[in-house]
Amino acid sequence: MNKYVEKNTKGLRGEIVIPSDKSLSHRAIMLSSIARGCAIINNFSVGADCHSTLNLFKNLGVDIEFISEQKLKLKSTGILAAPTGNLDCGNSGTTMRLVSGILAGQNFNSVLYGDESLSKRPMKRVIEPLSLMGAKIDSNEYKAPLKIYGQRLNGIDYSSKLASAQVKSCVLLAGLHAHGKTSFTEPYVSRNHTELMLKYLGADISVHNLTVEIEKSELTAKDITICGDISSAAFFIVAGLIVPNSDFIIKNVGLNKTRTGILDVVEKMGGNVQLLDKRIEANEEVGDLRVKTSDLHACEISGSLIPRLIDEIPVIAVMATQAEGTTIIKNAQDLRNKESDRITAVVTELRKLGADIDETADGFIINGKKHLKGGCEIETYHDHRLAMSMYIAGLIAKNSININEFQWVDISFPEFEKLITSLQ
Ligand code: S3P
Repeated sequence: MNKYVEKNTKGLRGEIVIPSDKSLSHRAIMLSSIARGCAIINNFSVGADCHSTLNLFKNLGVDIEFISEQKLKLKSTGILAAPTGNLDCGNSGTTMRLVSGILAGQNFNSVLYGDESLSKRPMKRVIEPLSLMGAKIDSNEYKAPLKIYGQRLNGIDYSSKLASAQVKSCVLLAGLHAHGKTSFTEPYVSRNHTELMLKYLGADISVHNLTVEIEKSELTAKDITICGDISSAAFFIVAGLIVPNSDFIIKNVGLNKTRTGILDVVEKMGGNVQLLDKRIEANEEVGDLRVKTSDLHACEISGSLIPRLIDEIPVIAVMATQAEGTTIIKNAQDLRNKESDRITAVVTELRKLGADIDETADGFIINGKKHLKGGCEIETYHDHRLAMSMYIAGLIAKNSININEFQWVDISFPEFEKLITSLQ
């Protein structure tokens, strides 16, 4: 599906409610499936990735029933059943990496597979720590499909070179059923939703600076209401800052500190984003944001900020094209292992639009402020976040752009275009 995007001349105005958080939706299904009891999950994501997780757990014998499109009832004994066939993770890295931690310690074998893009993504980062715990996993040079031979696992003390929530969650979920204590230490704090939700459901888990420790525990199901996804809100935050004459409210945004790196960057760049009505839901901070068009200036984005905004970097690069000065993004080499090589893809497509952007091994150098001329065809590389980032760039380009294969947005955010047009 092609998408024409034209320059917005009036500004973005009004109010939107940001849809369900993808990371939390995955975890709500996974953790409720291995908990004993019945839970209502409210505001579950309609994105394809979270539905891959949901269908996978149905195949593991969990009783999941939709009450309405985004509300479901999940009943489990806490014990999974052997699947009847191979388990499809679709395009979702989170599904494959977290679920491998759950399946490695079961008393049955299973096979996880995914689409073409997922089959190229690195799985050594989870196979390695799981193997140290005693897991037996066959793969083709550490790529999917993964054949997991269920084993009794032992706890480990693992120090990770990567600040990755997927790796951390995988080890913690394996640790939940392993013999003895498991600890995981990361170089910088990555998103901590797994830790918070495990605690919420009764796990014996504790956090000391960069180390998380978990003991073998039983989980008890509890209702979960999922807040809006700051990674989805990011497209609107950037749009509001760079489209002239914009002033609007984004409601129900998850504000967990391990995810709010984009708000720190906006502040450093001089952007006008006000936080309204902060509250707590299911152990997570939530609030509303008011965004207004702003004069932006460049900044450096690196180190501990990177895991706190890893998924927002493509749209932050769009924002940096409109900031006075040189923005440098570094230590983001893992962007090359996402749904696409997001460093090369962002540089290639933003250059077509007229941006002054260079690629480095681990990030970008972006010289702003540049008028984007547009008037070109844009590729999405089968990557939802690239498609939406380019749409936002299209709103300020002089000539309309044509984005190919725009349907990839459905992976995380099928409501994207409806929401952006509601503000125009
Ligand atoms: C996610 C963690 C991040 C992020 C991904 C979702 C999660 O990946 O990029 O979109 O839900 O745990 P890494 O842990 O590989 O950085």
